[in-house]
Amino acid sequence: MDAEPDLPENVTNLRTVAVGLGDRSYDIVIGGGLLGHAGALIARHHGTSKCVIVTDTNVAGAHLETLSSGLGDACPLAGTITLNPGEATKCFSELASLSERLLELGIERGDLILAFGGGVIGDLAGFAASILRRGVNFVQIPTSLLAQVDSSVGGKTGINMPQGKNLIGAFYQPRLVIADTDVLETLPERQFRAGYAEMAKYGLLGDEEFFSWLETNWSDVFSGGAARTQAIETCCKTKAAIVEEDEHEKGNRALLNLGHTFGHALEGFAGYSERLLHGEAISIGMALAFEYSNELELCRGQDAQRAIRHLETVGLPTNIGQIPGGTPTSPQLMDLMAQDKKVQDGVLPLILTRGIGEAYVERSVDMNKLQDFLTRKCSGQ
Ligand code: GLY
Repeated sequence: MDAEPDLPENVTNLRTVAVGLGDRSYDIVIGGGLLGHAGALIARHHGTSKCVIVTDTNVAGAHLETLSSGLGDACPLAGTITLNPGEATKCFSELASLSERLLELGIERGDLILAFGGGVIGDLAGFAASILRRGVNFVQIPTSLLAQVDSSVGGKTGINMPQGKNLIGAFYQPRLVIADTDVLETLPERQFRAGYAEMAKYGLLGDEEFFSWLETNWSDVFSGGAARTQAIETCCKTKAAIVEEDEHEKGNRALLNLGHTFGHALEGFAGYSERLLHGEAISIGMALAFEYSNELELCRGQDAQRAIRHLETVGLPTNIGQIPGGTPTSPQLMDLMAQDKKVQDGVLPLILTRGIGEAYVERSVDMNKLQDFLTRKCSGQ
């Protein structure tokens, strides 16, 4: 569905991607200038409701006024809760205080929580929505590339724990995703590049044609306009198809974690800090997944090199030695990976690959071989 007839002409490159999940189905509306018409979009896709915006100080400074006025009469605003930016906000104490503030604002089940920010805000506000009064409706309004192509779609919500990333959470689908591509213009370049790692992931995991397209068109994606919207739409379509098939990650949804088992461990080592952004960790993680697959003779060296070359071309890190401020040891990484949510009976499934666009879930990983590989990678070999 591309038509949103009641939206004015200053909305550009409009696309709608449907996520078909029965009575939990929703649309992802992508385009420029959508914040200013958020109320009309919500009314069209969900109905009118009182709402609360949950955001962070960076996003609020740049875009809160546009969203607040765009809600209009359709979505009367009961309040705005503005949190600190950064991964440290995705924790239990912030969840507790956010829940209290939402209750104080009188948010009821039929009201709407608007998660207005990047992955941290989407995951935290979405999780609060899932537990508040046993489930309050929420809308994702992602403001980072990473959130627009990945974290706002598919209903994964949650917080980090000292033991690891996203270890407390719920599958809880939003009622609508509004991805205004204009907000990406104010994203710092480092953040955009980190989000691009998740974009490249869709090509690397299952779509060689899209990966080739990115190899040719990545600079247009970075500069904005129709190529960027097209790429975001492609990622959202792929994600929607995977989530429709496997909402609760019993099978192929795990492919979306290409590079994430290594990446989450690297983020944990770096203290979930600005030292290593999520997308940067995923870029290194994907490079490791390709190199390890090549070492196991699952994928050709030239495929691993091609994947790594593209990540390097766009300026993403691809090896452990590029983490600023120090390198982990392989036992450290093995311990961190052992906390992965996907571990079953002590066995760690790993997303490996038979080539570009040919990722698969390996459920019988030889942990000794893996540690040996990581020992060499951690020492710069
Ligand atoms: N970001 C991975 C997933 O949604 O499954």
